[in-house]
Amino acid sequence: MRQRLVAGNWKMRGCLSANQQLLDSLVQHLSSLSDVEVAVCVPFPYLAQAKTTLLNTQLTWGAQDVSSELKGPFTGEVSAEMLQDFGCKYVIVGHSERRALYGETNHIAALKYQAAQLAGLKPIFCVSESLEEFEAGNSKQVVLAQLETVIHLCGVESLKHAVVAYEPFWAIGGDISAPPEHVQSMHSAIRKYVETSDKSVADHLQIVYGGSIKAANAAQLLSQPDVDGGIVGAASLDAVEFSEICRSARKLS
Ligand code: PGA
Repeated sequence: MRQRLVAGNWKMRGCLSANQQLLDSLVQHLSSLSDVEVAVCVPFPYLAQAKTTLLNTQLTWGAQDVSSELKGPFTGEVSAEMLQDFGCKYVIVGHSERRALYGETNHIAALKYQAAQLAGLKPIFCVSESLEEFEAGNSKQVVLAQLETVIHLCGVESLKHAVVAYEPFWAIGGDISAPPEHVQSMHSAIRKYVETSDKSVADHLQIVYGGSIKAANAAQLLSQPDVDGGIVGAASLDAVEFSEICRSARKLS
């Protein structure tokens, strides 16, 4: 059985006091949850707070982006080694908001994935298509091309130390997720694509879904056979709702 993961993606939200309440509450709600890994991906300035609060708890933490460079004169960038310093296990790479709003290309996303792995972090590599691509029936082609860039650069075996997140851009940040059947068909296409290179890697690959997961729809989405967990944006800011989502992942495993 593949390990299930539910990761909160706070995006650019939070402040010291609200984070503390949220993190304390998550520890309280989720400390007895043993069969689902729960992570929070927080803004860089709050990594120290996450580390201090979550060390020696069941929860893990990570960042939402990383530099493709290892170190040097790159003003404003944060390296994978720095994230290591703060005890991160995960880093989100190639999120569709970074691709769409900050011009992150497949190549840059793949370099970030490589930099993360070099420092021992587990990239959560996001693949996604736009609404136009979805409506044109090109979802699989677009998403598999994104995945191919990391396989080409780092090899299929690198996926043993990564999570793939299918996060259709058109389903993010609203109330309505992508239809569960569409999600399953995309996850299955991703797994089959990896299988053409390495069956064992494909069988063990954690493929999680992100895009408007709420407590109300989590069970339906997370019960799809190729869905191994979720990335939760807005709903991860509410401890009760997020905990409920994490418990839905467990109920089905
Ligand atoms: P959302 O965000 O749950 O707010 O749609 C998910 C994500 O972008 O990771």
